[in-house]
Amino acid sequence: MARTLEEVISEIKNRLDIVEVVSEQVILKKNGSHYWGLCPFHKEKTPSFSVNPQLGIYKCFGCGEGGDALSFIMKTKNMEFMDVIKELAQKYGIEMPVNFKKSEGSKDLKSQMMLACEKAAIFYHDFLVNHKSEEIKTALEYLTNRSISGEIIDKFTLGLAPKSFTTLYDILKKDFSDEVLEKAGLVLKSKEGRGYIDRFRGRIIIPIRNENGDYVAFGARALTSEQSPKYLNSSDSLIYNKSKLLYGLYTAKDAIKDEDGVILMEGYFDVISAQAHGVENVVGVCGTALTSDHIKLLSRYTKSRRIYLSFDTDSAGQKATDRGATIIREAFEGLGNIKQFDESYISTSQDRYSCEIRVVSPPEGKDPDEFIRTVGAETFKQIVKNAPLLIDFQINNFLKHKKEYKTPQEKLQYVKSFIPVLLEINNEIIRSEYVKMVADAINVDEEALHSEIKKQAYVNSLQPVPEKDAKHFVTKSVSIIEKAQKNLLSVFLVSDSHFTFEQISEMIDNSYFSNETLINVKSTIDKLICTVNNVKELIEQLYTAYIENPDMQLVITDLINIAETFNNLSAEDFQSIIEENIKRIQRCRWEEEKEKMRNLYKNADEDDTEALKIQMQLRDKINNRIKSEKIND
Ligand code: CTP
Ligand code: MN
Repeated sequence: MARTLEEVISEIKNRLDIVEVVSEQVILKKNGSHYWGLCPFHKEKTPSFSVNPQLGIYKCFGCGEGGDALSFIMKTKNMEFMDVIKELAQKYGIEMPVNFKKSEGSKDLKSQMMLACEKAAIFYHDFLVNHKSEEIKTALEYLTNRSISGEIIDKFTLGLAPKSFTTLYDILKKDFSDEVLEKAGLVLKSKEGRGYIDRFRGRIIIPIRNENGDYVAFGARALTSEQSPKYLNSSDSLIYNKSKLLYGLYTAKDAIKDEDGVILMEGYFDVISAQAHGVENVVGVCGTALTSDHIKLLSRYTKSRRIYLSFDTDSAGQKATDRGATIIREAFEGLGNIKQFDESYISTSQDRYSCEIRVVSPPEGKDPDEFIRTVGAETFKQIVKNAPLLIDFQINNFLKHKKEYKTPQEKLQYVKSFIPVLLEINNEIIRSEYVKMVADAINVDEEALHSEIKKQAYVNSLQPVPEKDAKHFVTKSVSIIEKAQKNLLSVFLVSDSHFTFEQISEMIDNSYFSNETLINVKSTIDKLICTVNNVKELIEQLYTAYIENPDMQLVITDLINIAETFNNLSAEDFQSIIEENIKRIQRCRWEEEKEKMRNLYKNADEDDTEALKIQMQLRDKINNRIKSEKIND
């Protein structure tokens, strides 16, 4: 059934649930009628970002960002309005208007780039499996040595990039522009500036797919130790952001949901080995450090947020484990407990606001890929099953070194290095259990250890809390008149008001507004209130009306904030808010006018008739004003 674009947009809006949409990027916790989380638009440690499901909007009290579900998607995914609509229409199976489809095609840059990556992946794969040559033989031998079977090669679309310079380019340039191929990171401008050459040459190709299975980037491993670097990776592009993408997620999604847990690894081949050998809930970071965006992505798939860190067991891997744990904590900060320290440290699907960090650390000192290949997937699974909580892992690591510290001074130093870990345990009982364990193991006085911890806690409490980095936050000193006009306008957005839009409209005249922005908003509101049924719809429509204008959206958010302070008022109080603000506006205008007159008068010549006229005008105005105030009061 053909529909108009407006109908499609409105259908999409009906289907969008702001909590669901925001939850894709932000871990939310319900508090009263709102949800709270860490703002995705500025860096913060305590949640000042709120979602109001009744009104279908979000806003941040820290940086001032705000909007509805559509603008959230646009801003966080950096997408154009129509692209979001197209994507959602497809997701919900809503047909786009006929005239729209024609212009749509797959012409836009991003889909062209993805298509080019897909074609490239298929080319590299085909080159490896369906052709014969010396270099292909070497590549297949390399993969066989790593126990990569033909089946695995197919499952992960592994391929080989030929050594020659332009094989891929010559094929793809028939279907894609140079711009698309260059932006997709498949080709480079040749040094002489004449033409293009393939970016990946003489390497094993590991195509990287996003969550939806689109091909977006490549990892390319050297075949010999002479080649450098060992891995050549696609750079970030319009379709690839390595700090938000996890390798293997597309194939691991279902298993992560089923197991309600995810194993995080460092290398492409770790993920490939694990998934190929039946440990399927595994993903990897792509040649970059773990970020809190990765963790947010994962927390959408595992309800209980059980995350296993399975990094290399060498010292670099251990550092990565520590850093990973810190990142995970940061992602959940202010929202709940890291379950390992909590009384009921086993996560459940009911408790959506915490997470459980465990560490997978095979004793053999091998990376997961090697371990699975040499010792076996079953043993690996067993190790995962018994993986210690992060705290136990840290304590064990710590205690491994206990023999190195003998004198009281050495012991103190040793203990001190571990206090920060113990300090993170909030629960007194659990903490004292661990303190006892540590004190016994290294033979120091338990009470003394307790008091050292308390001392450190006190020192920490004296540290200044770092100021919020709110890049959008502008504290403008808003003039009284502007504030009053904003108050007046926000009255339209009070969700539980006793008046209809028409009644409010009658009370609030257009002439009260002098600020250009607010006049603009008022006229949009005037138009919209003829068609919308309630405040929620009005807000939605307002955000849509200003969808291309983020500054105006900020103004709307500001008005919604003010409107919230007018909730729960009686009809009388509501009316008197309106009257009070009207009076304030009139008073300000009067002051402005007097000031203007005075200035005119001041600048006039002594015996100027003009000056006399002004003086008389001023007197008349004052008299009228006094009269009208008497009537009003
Ligand atoms: N990596 C990278 N660039 C490098 C080295 C490593 O991007 N020059 C990334 C790759 O994603 C790699 C991961 O870091 O998979 C882990 O690196 P490393 O432990 O050195 O590689 P392995 O996975 O053990 O690689 P391999 O088994 O192929 O030697
Ligand atoms: Mn390895």
